[in-house]
Amino acid sequence: MIKNKMQDAFNKQIGEEIYSSYLYLSMAAYFETINLKGFSHWMKCQAQEEMFHAMRFFTHILERGGAVALPRIEEPKRKWESSLNIFQDGLVHEEHITDCIHKLMDQAVDEKDYAAQNLLKWFVNEQVEEEDNFTEMVAKLKMIGGDQPSLLLQDKEMAARMPGINPYVGTIPAGTAA
Ligand code: FEO
Repeated sequence: MIKNKMQDAFNKQIGEEIYSSYLYLSMAAYFETINLKGFSHWMKCQAQEEMFHAMRFFTHILERGGAVALPRIEEPKRKWESSLNIFQDGLVHEEHITDCIHKLMDQAVDEKDYAAQNLLKWFVNEQVEEEDNFTEMVAKLKMIGGDQPSLLLQDKEMAARMPGINPYVGTIPAGTAA
């Protein structure tokens, strides 16, 4: 049985992960409006992955006899100055999520909640990958600068991202990249 304090913290984290999904979906919509459909596809895949993260906490709470209480989700930003600015915002957001995960781990250790620690170990590793992805894209977009042909080439590369398979909600349909 999950204790109330851990359950409440995990419910809050469900909100953080769903907000992440919202944010990346908003970024996907923005990329589409500036005709970068490969980047848009990449962000749709990212949004889908965030729902997978939310579902891991959702399932964990229920499997341990807890109660899911979904928090309110804030409206995400809708406009950015550039592709670089979008990925910089994404990186700042991922750093915030890493901080949330580390705080949850501290709590799980304090409470000697071994099941929660086990779940959170996966997220600690996942956040290393998440920050790395955004850091790499920030560096690449800085290199590209205002060079339009290079940006279009990168857009083509972004279209190749494979949508994940979410064991909690089924297979995710392929993206709509051109
Ligand atoms: Fe669920 Fe991108 O952190």
